[in-house]
Amino acid sequence: MTNKYTIEEKKQGQALLTNHKTSNSKKVYLESYGCQMNLNDSEIVASILSDVGYNTTFKMEEADLVLVNTCSIREKAEQTIRKRLEKYNAIKRINPKMKIGVLGCMAERLKEKFLEEEQMVDMVVGPDAYRDLPNLITEIEDGREAVNVLLSTEETYADIAPVRLNSNGVSAFVSITRGCDNICTFCVVPKTRGRERSRDPKSILKEIKDLQDRNFKEITLLGQNVDSYLWYGGGLKIDLKKATKEAQENAINFAMLMDLCATEFPKMRIRFSTSNPQDMKLDVIHTMAKHKNICDYIHLPVQSGSTAVLERMNRKHTREEYVELIDNIRKILPECSISHDMIAGFCGETEEEHQETLSLMEYVKYGFGFMFAYSDRPGTPAHNTMQDDIPEETKKRRLTEIIQLQQKHGLFRMEQFLGKTVEVLIEGNSKKSEDYWKGRNSQNAMVVFPKTENEKIGDLVLVKINECTSATLIGEKEKG
Ligand code: SAH
Ligand code: F3S
Repeated sequence: MTNKYTIEEKKQGQALLTNHKTSNSKKVYLESYGCQMNLNDSEIVASILSDVGYNTTFKMEEADLVLVNTCSIREKAEQTIRKRLEKYNAIKRINPKMKIGVLGCMAERLKEKFLEEEQMVDMVVGPDAYRDLPNLITEIEDGREAVNVLLSTEETYADIAPVRLNSNGVSAFVSITRGCDNICTFCVVPKTRGRERSRDPKSILKEIKDLQDRNFKEITLLGQNVDSYLWYGGGLKIDLKKATKEAQENAINFAMLMDLCATEFPKMRIRFSTSNPQDMKLDVIHTMAKHKNICDYIHLPVQSGSTAVLERMNRKHTREEYVELIDNIRKILPECSISHDMIAGFCGETEEEHQETLSLMEYVKYGFGFMFAYSDRPGTPAHNTMQDDIPEETKKRRLTEIIQLQQKHGLFRMEQFLGKTVEVLIEGNSKKSEDYWKGRNSQNAMVVFPKTENEKIGDLVLVKINECTSATLIGEKEKG
């Protein structure tokens, strides 16, 4: 999932608001950290709470209930959230009636410990237990503490229509799987989000139809590992080869799901995130090539360029297999942009292995990247069986080298658009000036251009690119 990991660490999180109900209801202040899945989950939470009379508010001070949807992916993310909890507590001292709830991955990871150790929160709710929120809220309103951190093998929130809290009215997230069955040794997600489940395609199509009716123009299909999407009637993922003939014949995989979505909604731009290289098959790339409305962009985290490190990470592919996948993407989708996630300084990473990461980057020349220093997470296989033995300064230096190389490649990729005309979906005003629009092209590059009188948010327009930085394309709208 793109753009997310920086959110939790750089910003103060995102205050989410809506005013879709104006009765004399109670007020909830909802703050979200972490990945796009968390943002989407907060939208589901807002929907569940709205049914029991809670309005969302921007102002924490006037809230009856403060909820923070948390992230555990790196230690720093958790530290940021602990700081926020201190802030909520300061407000609670002035307004003791205010209740505080922790949602999401940190709730799942720390469970009751939150209530025991922190003395800061009234309610702890894991990612699969949001339907229980109305009951849990009754408990805390009666002065009791409330915890539900049960993980599910079924829950997909398929029938809940998310309240589009943090949307620009143009693009929206649509969750298609929950949980993850891969056990990458560095990653806490399988522990906090449970087993992988796929959502009924009918409910996915219904959600997209609803978005289209409300004038949305772009959707991102979301999952920890979208390429392993498999619908055969519900429940945990199965090995299709061992399933009954009937299940095999009726099953819908990710390529088929994308084909369904793209065919049924030809005007909707379709994106997806995240692809694990080990699960991405050629049928997905061919489906992308078949449909113009599926964007030419793949987020393909690799984490390391060294086969030995990939093995220690329990990623189920080698460097060579990854390169083969990249070559196939380039062959079938020559215009496609590719981004990555990279981890610097994983357990036992030698200088040579780090160099292999840099040389892989040099080969692929990614358009974007999300890059992190390895952070040891309690409960993960790496934490239990390996030494977090790379000194912090070495991790930092390697990370800086990775980031600098990525900046060079980002600029290189942006320069390829100079003089070309690209299709841009207008998302809103550019950050720097109200006289400019911003939007993204199919390859997910940010484009800004001066407004003229004839376009509005949500329009697809052709923009000729004249200049660029390593992060933005600058152009002007084509006339006619
Ligand atoms: N499949 C998920 C991955 C979630 S984690 C997805 O949808 O993107 C996102 C990224 O965080 C990973 O790809 C990895 O690069 C990084 N990450 C995960 N655990 C980490 C850790 N312990 N230390 C540093 N980075 C980590
Ligand atoms: Fe984490 Fe690997 Fe799944 S990075 S979310 S365990 S694919």
